[in-house]
Amino acid sequence: MQPKTSLAPAFMSQPSITAADFGQLPDGQTAQLFTLRNGRGLEVRITNYGGTVTHLLAPDKDGQPGDVVLGFDSLDGYFSPEYQQAGPYFGALIGRFGNRIARGRFELDGQTYELATNNGSNHLHGGLRGFDKVLWQVEVLVDPAPALRLSYISPDGEEGYPGTLTVSVVYMLTPDNGLRISYGATTDKTTIVNLTNHCYFNLSGGARPDVLGHELQLRAARYTVVDDTLVPTGELRPVAGTPFDFTAPHLIGERIAQVPGGYDHNWVLGGNGFRLVATAAEPTTGRTLDVYTDQPGVQCYSGNFLDGSLTGKNGLVYGKHAGFCLETQHFPDSPNQPDFPSTVLRPGELFSSVTEYRFGVKR
Ligand code: BGC
Repeated sequence: MQPKTSLAPAFMSQPSITAADFGQLPDGQTAQLFTLRNGRGLEVRITNYGGTVTHLLAPDKDGQPGDVVLGFDSLDGYFSPEYQQAGPYFGALIGRFGNRIARGRFELDGQTYELATNNGSNHLHGGLRGFDKVLWQVEVLVDPAPALRLSYISPDGEEGYPGTLTVSVVYMLTPDNGLRISYGATTDKTTIVNLTNHCYFNLSGGARPDVLGHELQLRAARYTVVDDTLVPTGELRPVAGTPFDFTAPHLIGERIAQVPGGYDHNWVLGGNGFRLVATAAEPTTGRTLDVYTDQPGVQCYSGNFLDGSLTGKNGLVYGKHAGFCLETQHFPDSPNQPDFPSTVLRPGELFSSVTEYRFGVKR
């Protein structure tokens, strides 16, 4: 009989953080790349360019690490003409407003604001130069767990938004293999805010070209119906009896053909406060992902616009559905939908929000 090998010692070590240069931005500034390890098998690499998660290594059912996010080994990858043209936002921080604002326009306290439009006639993910394209200030934190605090001050009027927005995002690796992202923001004028992260996951760690064989469960009984530009109509429709019903686990690919274009929708999450909202599992490697958040919605995007024009880490070609995103958020176009939870932030208030991506295995 073969002796059973213990999984633990292979990757148990001390938590650590290291930093290295990641390359130069076109304006001559240097971006850095930080490697955080929690000593229990989880490793993340994050650059302060866009607060982007470039690598995320998690163990499979045999304890073997695999990189479960899409991205590039060098800064150049994020500046290639193909990447700039496709605009997939791999692993980036998204702000000031994640998702779409119809026609880039909203009214606040009787005043109309015009934002940059960068997705047809709509505003998407903060505009032409969102938080994914700025260089963040960094502070390394080691106590109680390896973490990075990224800070950015978005000037009044940036991309058309009112108010100076002071933003801080802490990425922390928890001892139970979670990547916890804590967002904070304050403003000096009434404004709107909706911060998220845009990691594309493929839990096979490069073994499968797409995520159609991943199981997904979403704790959501309704979703926001959208028009043909992916802007909500205002209707919250029950998922029961539709391909949007993930209240019990289903393969992402099972009913995707019934959804024109694929999944790119906001689910209305049940419950309140910081709670488990989504679980994904990849059967061949046994890797699982549990998503916790205090947000009311999650955009589940099945990488529909990836078309093989980008080649990422380890020479992997990113074709259609190569990864999926679970972008925790307020609902798209909230500033124009009075019945959706509010995204308004006023001076003196603190916007704060926490999302955790926790990795495990299922045998
Ligand atoms: C959006 C997609 C978009 C993708 C990359 C997602 O959050 O919902 O429609 O293509 O981001 O920009």
